[in-house]
Amino acid sequence: MKIALAFSGGLDTSVCLKILQEEYNAEVVTVAGVVGQDPEKLEKIRKKAENLGSVKYYGVDLTKEFVEDYIFPSIKANGNYEGYPLSSALARYPIAAKVVEIAQKEDCSAIAHGCTGKGNDQFRFDTTISLKDPDMEIIAPVREKNLDRNWEIQYAKENDIPVPVDVNEPYSIDENIWGRSIEGGELEDPKNEPPEEIYKLTQSPSEAPDEPRTLEIEFENGVPVKLNGNEKDGASLIENLNKSVGEYGVGRIDIVEDRSLGLKSRENYEAPAALALTEAHKALEQLVLTRDEIKFKTMVDGLWSELAYRGLWFDPLREDLDAFIEKTQERVTGQVKIKLEPGSIRVVSRASPHSLHEPELVSFEDYGFDQRESVGAIKFQALQGKSYWKKKKDR
Ligand code: ARG
Repeated sequence: MKIALAFSGGLDTSVCLKILQEEYNAEVVTVAGVVGQDPEKLEKIRKKAENLGSVKYYGVDLTKEFVEDYIFPSIKANGNYEGYPLSSALARYPIAAKVVEIAQKEDCSAIAHGCTGKGNDQFRFDTTISLKDPDMEIIAPVREKNLDRNWEIQYAKENDIPVPVDVNEPYSIDENIWGRSIEGGELEDPKNEPPEEIYKLTQSPSEAPDEPRTLEIEFENGVPVKLNGNEKDGASLIENLNKSVGEYGVGRIDIVEDRSLGLKSRENYEAPAALALTEAHKALEQLVLTRDEIKFKTMVDGLWSELAYRGLWFDPLREDLDAFIEKTQERVTGQVKIKLEPGSIRVVSRASPHSLHEPELVSFEDYGFDQRESVGAIKFQALQGKSYWKKKKDR
């Protein structure tokens, strides 16, 4: 039996690699991907995979694809689930899709992953695999054998699996170019304030520069293309923003999140660039879309975010929603300025050739239309309400 394993080199997937060989008697092809992290990491993971007996290893840099095919659509959709900018969630899809592609190429009969049976990632992996290749068997050793961390550490020691150095760290951390997720340890109790040590992308606001800083982001059809007037590819623009926004202590998120299974889970995130780009993007949409477009799009964005969160990226509904979102983004072109001050971010300027804002109509100084005409609109707005109040008084 030949199995393709989504492999990160961490404890879960290292244990899985061994179990698949021992208990399934399988030849294991390992697949690792980076989504914004240093591509050199892929060589370190290769060594681990080969030392643990993987027959073939694929290390793929998925950063560009992640940015253009997943993050850009999420910016257009103001992607956000209960306050979470979907950073870890979105990254699972290009990885899962790549594993399916390699499994097919390598003639594997099954795909394995290290997801637990408690989290959201199992929804994302399983659903992506089953939608892309319904005949592919899915093996999830951690879930199937109900494994826990202590059992895994013990098993690793007994089977000469090098236990990763961070295994004593209390936190479970997942990181990519769109954000960083921190769970576990004392954070599991929503009552405990997150200690400063969990943060890496953001400074404490008390350490932020005193001088405010203004950044200009230029959007073209809903996608950021320039930062401070300089043309940037998506990945470097996001990396740049992570740095400058994080320096001001902006981008920390602390929420209780409803997982797909319904479990409430305390989550901490750092997502400086995601926060800044979403705020800027929304400000531009306010300028160029009509009030009813914004109202409807807010519902579409919410549904879109839920699909992305719940493992349903490749569901047909996501494509349908994207068709609507894409159409609205034809006008989302222009410049937005955001002002950074210690611990805060604020949109202070927006401009677009498609702006629906007409200064001569709205100005206090110059009335572009005859004020007297508004009376009728107000009168009719109150029509049904008047009948209601009349009846109520009669009763
Ligand atoms: N709750 C988030 C999600 O489901 C983040 C999970 C991140 N995983 C982690 N090991 N910290 O997308």
